[in-house]
Amino acid sequence: MDYLQKQVLKSSIIPAIPPEKILGTADQLQEALMMYSCAIREVKTKLEVLNDELSIRNQRNPIEFIKTRVKKPYSILEKLNRRGFEISIQSVFENLNDVAGIRVICSFVDDIYTVAEMLTNQDDVTLLEVKDYIKNPKPNGYRSLHLIIQVPVYFSDKKEELRAEVQIRTIAMDFWASLEHDLRYKQDIPDTEAVQEELKSCADTIANTDKRMMALRDKIETMKSANVEKKEEKKTNVFK
Ligand code: GTP
Ligand code: MG
Repeated sequence: MDYLQKQVLKSSIIPAIPPEKILGTADQLQEALMMYSCAIREVKTKLEVLNDELSIRNQRNPIEFIKTRVKKPYSILEKLNRRGFEISIQSVFENLNDVAGIRVICSFVDDIYTVAEMLTNQDDVTLLEVKDYIKNPKPNGYRSLHLIIQVPVYFSDKKEELRAEVQIRTIAMDFWASLEHDLRYKQDIPDTEAVQEELKSCADTIANTDKRMMALRDKIETMKSANVEKKEEKKTNVFK
């Protein structure tokens, strides 16, 4: 039995999801997941092109790295069920925005907005939704910029507009989100107010460090250009 069939079968043994609620045939599911993984590739290439161009212009990379994932069949099924949507392949395309997930890790906070603007300004990218958890952090301290976009993908006999969720954050925000996620899933430890306060305080410290690193970068840039000007001046003096 292959992986996909196992995932489909798994759905029928979860009591909350009736056995008849399966995501089409394994073939249909495999095709849908293939389409989302192609959408991810399209978006990833766009981001890599931007990173290459900006790294020449600014002499540093605005993007540190990119992580991608296609949502697992069981998570797709669970989300459709939880949100009360019809359980079908068509319903996945219509109702879920995050089957294709792209996480972009930037060096500095302003890089996040530069990358987001350049990506969403492209002719074939449709911006469907923005959630700015940097300007408006979640109560637990979570920060990231979330975009839901739609991109065309060309297949042998059709063009499909596919949606993807792009999460853009700094290395520091990613560090916090990864650890917070891990801690949240350790169910045997009570989620006390003290733990939540400590996590929130760490998130705020990290946000402050992000700001200081950006200020430091600007200071170093100014010092560098002052140095270059001085050298230029010296050169012209020699020829006087
Ligand atoms: P879901 O997709 O069902 O979560 O609902 P939504 O689309 O309303 O959520 P939202 O756009 O706020 O967040 C989607 C994704 O962002 C999640 O699946 C996580 O990957 C990430 N995320 C959101 N909030 C948090 C958080 O508090 N902590 C961490 N670690 N990740 C978060
Ligand atoms: Mg979501």
